[in-house]
Amino acid sequence: MPARPVVVDTIAGIRAAVAGARAEGRGVALVPTMGALHAGHLSHVERVRDLDPAAFVVVSVFVNPLQFGAGEDFERYPRTLDDDVAKLAAVGADAVFAPSVAEMYPDGGAVVTVHAGAVGATFEGAARPGHFDGALTAVAKLLHIVAPDSATFGRKDAQQLWLVERMVRDLDLPVRVVEIPIVREPGGLAMSSRNRYLSAAERDSALALSRALAAAESEADAGIDAVLIAAQAVLAEEPGVEVGYFAVVDATTFAPVPDGFRGPVIAIVAARVGATRLIDNARFRLG
Ligand code: PAF
Repeated sequence: MPARPVVVDTIAGIRAAVAGARAEGRGVALVPTMGALHAGHLSHVERVRDLDPAAFVVVSVFVNPLQFGAGEDFERYPRTLDDDVAKLAAVGADAVFAPSVAEMYPDGGAVVTVHAGAVGATFEGAARPGHFDGALTAVAKLLHIVAPDSATFGRKDAQQLWLVERMVRDLDLPVRVVEIPIVREPGGLAMSSRNRYLSAAERDSALALSRALAAAESEADAGIDAVLIAAQAVLAEEPGVEVGYFAVVDATTFAPVPDGFRGPVIAIVAARVGATRLIDNARFRLG
């Protein structure tokens, strides 16, 4: 039986657990999550274990109210802590930090927050105003609480990953960001805690997102126009998918690429499938 991780719900408690590990000479890795863990999340733990087999691996499980807008799924976001802890035991996490909202925001919120800037107001930020300010504020707090050597962020949330890397750089946060590849279900659907909202028919429709990204990538040598046409043709064929955006951004700036651009890009897509908003992306070289 793998050892069960220690589960801590106070800031003082996780700081004490981390201090204990540091006193033993262990490095510390943080895997920030909102829980409802799936194989994608577990791959974060496996990755940091590979990087530092002796690391004290802390997984935070916190559904952060600051990153949900009015009418979004904060209330119904799945909370499955017992199940999460069992999964984390199986991959050898050392500690689970699962604070209450009152522990993280004793005054009910934060007066001083991180501002995600212009990039934070595009794409996901345009669809979900304030989302990235809220997410970055929670990430900054978790980094200050746990003070890890490294922290993992999934490529599935490409814009969040870009913004976290920018925050770490712009604010000189002493942490190494470890990027984790997207984990997909057998048909190609990117793993997400929100996939559990999908009916069987919606799951089938949702496969159009990864198909559109594959079609886009297959035209990478032909340039941006061909990439967009190929992706849009796939998405248009699937009536169950209401596209929010499909765009190709410069991987360095996260700005949409101009005509004739050559270099590393991220094709990003967001769509509503039934009542569920899904995002996905693919990284490739254009031109
Ligand atoms: O990606 C997530 O699960 C969340 O945005 C994060 C990074 C845990 C911050 O709340």
